[in-house]
Amino acid sequence: MSNDVLKQNKKSWDKVAHHFNGKDALPSYGPFAQTEDELRLFDEIVAKKVLDIGCGSGHSLKYMADQGASELWGIDLSEAQIQTAKETLEGLEAHLVCSPMEEDCGMPKHYFDVVYSIYAIGWTTNLSAAFKLIHSYLKPGGSFIFSWDHPLYAHLKSHNGQIYLEGAYQDEGVIKYPNFKGEEAPVVIPKRKMATYINELIRAGFTIESVIESDVSANLDGVSEEISDQYYSLYKARRFPTTMIIKSVKS
Ligand SMILES: C[S@@+](CC[C@H](N)C(=O)[O-])C[C@H]1O[C@@H](n2cnc3c(N)ncnc32)[C@H](O)[C@@H]1O
Repeated sequence: MSNDVLKQNKKSWDKVAHHFNGKDALPSYGPFAQTEDELRLFDEIVAKKVLDIGCGSGHSLKYMADQGASELWGIDLSEAQIQTAKETLEGLEAHLVCSPMEEDCGMPKHYFDVVYSIYAIGWTTNLSAAFKLIHSYLKPGGSFIFSWDHPLYAHLKSHNGQIYLEGAYQDEGVIKYPNFKGEEAPVVIPKRKMATYINELIRAGFTIESVIESDVSANLDGVSEEISDQYYSLYKARRFPTTMIIKSVKS
């Protein structure tokens, strides 16, 4: 995938950033998914140096600050997102860098206790490079936790509540959307299999500790669902995981 994809995605993210202020941020792992309060994947955060990949509006970093993290670092492709993150984190010392995650932007190596990413990893145009860099930022024993759309999810379409498979899960590649969040903001999102994420983690040197195909959050117990054909809906989420979450460790 070319630099042109990164340039296009950056331009579009700058345009739609305002739709994402506070969305897809910890303790949430994703739409309708179990939360950090339920899964407890992060061990003690107090006094830990943390790095957020695709930090967006900075709300996950704010959550980390509230949990007692000692250093807050974030990388994001979009200038607009970095600007919002600065506002979200006003009064806190945070190191925010505008860069694609797949490029070495000078982050310290062997430095972080935890690197995490909430709904951003799948945007990378070079998964192998992104995982290798993340591995290099971690201290030995450090953890990498990320969430992203369940890889089969993009293929699940629904018509009057009947869920069916569209396209071929077998074919990796990209999906091009001319609009994003209802705006003329073309984006290119890579489409990868579950095995690709797992194998690239292993190739980067990680030991996988946990793979979660998220259930619906207990916060939604008792909430009645309506048949819905929307991309994300409680109806679909009760039948198929919206989100995959993987925790791995630099051994
Ligand atoms: C859904 S948002 C993540 C929200 C974030 N987790 C939060 O706590 O606010 C996805 C983010 O990924 C960023 N992104 C997209 N492609 C990227 C890339 N190649 N490198 C770094 N960040 C990227 C976007 O700019 C966007 O801010």
